[in-house]
Amino acid sequence: MDAPTSSSSDRPPAYGIIESVDGVTNLVLRAMAGTPNERLREVMAAFVRHLHAFATEVRLTQDEYDFAVDFLNRIGKTTTDTHNEGILFADAVGFSTLVVLMNNGGKGPTETQAALLGPFWRDHSPLTENGGSIVRSATPGAALFVDCRIVDPDGQPIPGVEVDVWHASPVGLYENQDPNQAEMNLRGRFHTDKDGRFWFRSIKPAGYPVPTHGPTGELLRAQHRHPYRPAHLHFLGFKLGYRTMITQVFVDDDEYLQSDAVFGVTKDLIGNYRRHDAGETPPAPDVQAPWYTLDYTFEMQRGEAKRPIPPIK
Ligand code: BEZ
Ligand code: FE
Repeated sequence: MDAPTSSSSDRPPAYGIIESVDGVTNLVLRAMAGTPNERLREVMAAFVRHLHAFATEVRLTQDEYDFAVDFLNRIGKTTTDTHNEGILFADAVGFSTLVVLMNNGGKGPTETQAALLGPFWRDHSPLTENGGSIVRSATPGAALFVDCRIVDPDGQPIPGVEVDVWHASPVGLYENQDPNQAEMNLRGRFHTDKDGRFWFRSIKPAGYPVPTHGPTGELLRAQHRHPYRPAHLHFLGFKLGYRTMITQVFVDDDEYLQSDAVFGVTKDLIGNYRRHDAGETPPAPDVQAPWYTLDYTFEMQRGEAKRPIPPIK
């Protein structure tokens, strides 16, 4: 984005001085009206109008203003290479899901498979053969065999999609949060075959709490909200010529499906995690009952492929 420039004349611009509380918003809007970048001008004008209207509506006190500024600063200070508090906060107030649904599908929440990225995607996870395992260190839990297909809007398979998969361990932690897990445990990168399929072995995920050590956790506690997400797998599909697919598939019997702390669940994203018991032939000799299978079909839309900025390293 271009930086806004000031007036091109030699004299400084004259927006006027503050004469009353009612004039503040318009004066700020006048000061920003010369922003050459059209989109920046539009977005910042709306931002200022809504921010000022918000403060007016709630009759924001000075103490509340001070608290809000400190809260914002603490979001920044809590963010590190391995923790993204900014994304977490946006997720916890439903902002991420609102933006995802506004920008995908175009017909409302049940007509897109897109979901929020969350703060735990890491780029460059290990390239893994189809059929391989993403369990890279001893991880408790039932075996899970995932078999997915990616199709285009006409239902035709899309070969050669690079698909990142990541999920938390049943202990409730991603590997980057947990010294007991190997680097990149429960993360992998696959390519769809000629039939648009990719498949792998893992461990059935469990629900887990989002990190609560920062300002977002403080907010959840103040609002008497629990921090749990229903169990899920994350997927990111990338292929030139298609919109990057960022989504999650939730475990259908999870107790938190109706109260996801970050509002990611839509009807289409609840997967059928089928339980298999002793008596059925296990898919591998070392598998103990019960084990689970998930079959799921994703649809990718034609459009521009863009990899997101990794929230963590
Ligand atoms: C996640 O599913 O990885 C996640 C999403 C939002 C906030 C915290 C975690
Ligand atoms: Fe997750």
